[in-house]
Amino acid sequence: MTVDNTPVELTHGTDHSKARTIQTFMRRTSALSATQRHALQDCAHLLITEPVSDARLMFNQPKQPVIVEIGFGMGHSLVEMAKAAPEHNFLGIEVHIPGIAQCLYEAGQANIHNLRVMNADAVQVLMNLPDASLAGVQLFFPDPWQKRRHFKRRFVVPERMALIEDKLSVGGFFHTATDWQPYAQWMLDVLENQSRLKNKYGAGQFAPRPDWRPETKFERRGQIAGHGVWDLIYERVNS
Ligand SMILES: C[S@@+](CC[C@H](N)C(=O)[O-])C[C@H]1O[C@@H](n2cnc3c(N)ncnc32)[C@H](O)[C@@H]1O
Repeated sequence: MTVDNTPVELTHGTDHSKARTIQTFMRRTSALSATQRHALQDCAHLLITEPVSDARLMFNQPKQPVIVEIGFGMGHSLVEMAKAAPEHNFLGIEVHIPGIAQCLYEAGQANIHNLRVMNADAVQVLMNLPDASLAGVQLFFPDPWQKRRHFKRRFVVPERMALIEDKLSVGGFFHTATDWQPYAQWMLDVLENQSRLKNKYGAGQFAPRPDWRPETKFERRGQIAGHGVWDLIYERVNS
């Protein structure tokens, strides 16, 4: 497979004071169901609407380690993970409003207290958090941005991975997965070159699909289309 290693610029223009940060998402509009609309009100206590300066302080148990999930989609797998790990706090960040509402609904139904949800660009949220304040960051089935001119929108590029390195505490993890093989190879190439991340399964290796990672909507969609699944799990190390 040929891998395109051209550096990716994350801003437009040369005047950085006016530079517009490139977004990794497209806002999609779709109607909310009645259940989702109610969840936005009934579970408002789980929705963070203010800018966050330290994710740890948003939880009932502020000493528990925080795991951030970027782009949780409809949130089902995030709620399952939060249910299965009550000793961790989970912060889900998404821009898709029906997904946020659905995640709130499912969290409310599960009566869990270790999950908070934000409607925001995860890059902007991460930039405001203290360095070394996260126990883990997960990014499941991110948009593959298949056209070459869109590669700069891929979440996994060196600049955004450096941000994640900054925010992870030593020993923390970064876990990603994709069903798009060219993006899997791209991610592997990027991540192997991050000096503060060490592949938990050996240099250059994909991880076996962990059975503790619940299947996501986009993973299932990929399976129906006949795609494979590639997981990558890295540990934050001192460089
Ligand atoms: C292909 S979907 C995958 C959703 C889910 N993880 C799954 O596997 O079903 C990618 C999601 O990431 C979200 N996303 C992409 N970039 C984001 C960002 N910078 N901040 C928050 N959400 C983002 C998109 O809105 C979209 O819902």
